[in-house]
Amino acid sequence: MDEVREQVRQRYALAAVLGGDAGCCSAGGCAPESIAVDERFGAGLYSAQDAVSIPAEALAASLGCGNPIAVAELNAGERVLDLGSGGGIDVLLSARRVGPDGFAYGVDMTDEMLDLARANATKAGATNVEFLKGTIEDLPLGDAVVDVVISNCVVNLSTDKSAVLSEAFRVLVPGGRVGISDVVAEDRLTPDQRAERGSYVGCIAGALSRTEYLDGLVRAGFTDAEVTFTHEVADGMHGAVVRARKPLPQPRGT
Ligand SMILES: C[S@@+](CC[C@H](N)C(=O)[O-])C[C@H]1O[C@@H](n2cnc3c(N)ncnc32)[C@H](O)[C@@H]1O
Repeated sequence: MDEVREQVRQRYALAAVLGGDAGCCSAGGCAPESIAVDERFGAGLYSAQDAVSIPAEALAASLGCGNPIAVAELNAGERVLDLGSGGGIDVLLSARRVGPDGFAYGVDMTDEMLDLARANATKAGATNVEFLKGTIEDLPLGDAVVDVVISNCVVNLSTDKSAVLSEAFRVLVPGGRVGISDVVAEDRLTPDQRAERGSYVGCIAGALSRTEYLDGLVRAGFTDAEVTFTHEVADGMHGAVVRARKPLPQPRGT
């Protein structure tokens, strides 16, 4: 495991133990001493309706930068995968949306987060969910097994973003889609300028620019890619909604 990924794992292991208020994914980073509620990250980004539909512990464990469930517009019966599922909030909300005929998987590399997510699933009484240990660069799932890939403030933490996007493409069925919330930089910011605005483990320094994200999605094979800024999290850096689709095979002769 590379050194940066190990730092990320240790930070989120700590966050799982300390609780969501550790404020890990934030411009201020996640020093345990800086326990603060940051309205740009976490539970405050969910609607009141979503918030009351899951256990309070799952909501409190939110470390995201958006609401990918709203982005992905889930339908009953769909199979969903959440990349970097943390305490499980988006998996549990997805499971409710897709209903008993659908299924929601979460993948996370941090044992402490997986323990927290499984405990939250038990509290929620969710039966159509499974949390798998693995990395988002090498997903522990077969080809073409999910309809939707979601993620909340995790792609920026990866040290191999092209592998993440390729893996998302691989596990999606043709016609499947991604609906991701992430931190994204304006194109004017160099990698050094992004790093001046926050740490890697705090979801800032590792953020792609808008054009880098769009190019990466296209290189992975996606179509209809779009990256829309929703709220500023630091100067020139934004919470953003990322959408794209895995194309259907072209009919013969076209
Ligand atoms: C900022 S938290 C977000 C958690 C969750 N998505 C949420 O919204 O609360 C990042 C999560 O991604 C996981 N993670 C980070 N990099 C990962 C990787 N390369 N592979 C798998 N999990 C990863 C961490 O363990 C952590 O649980």
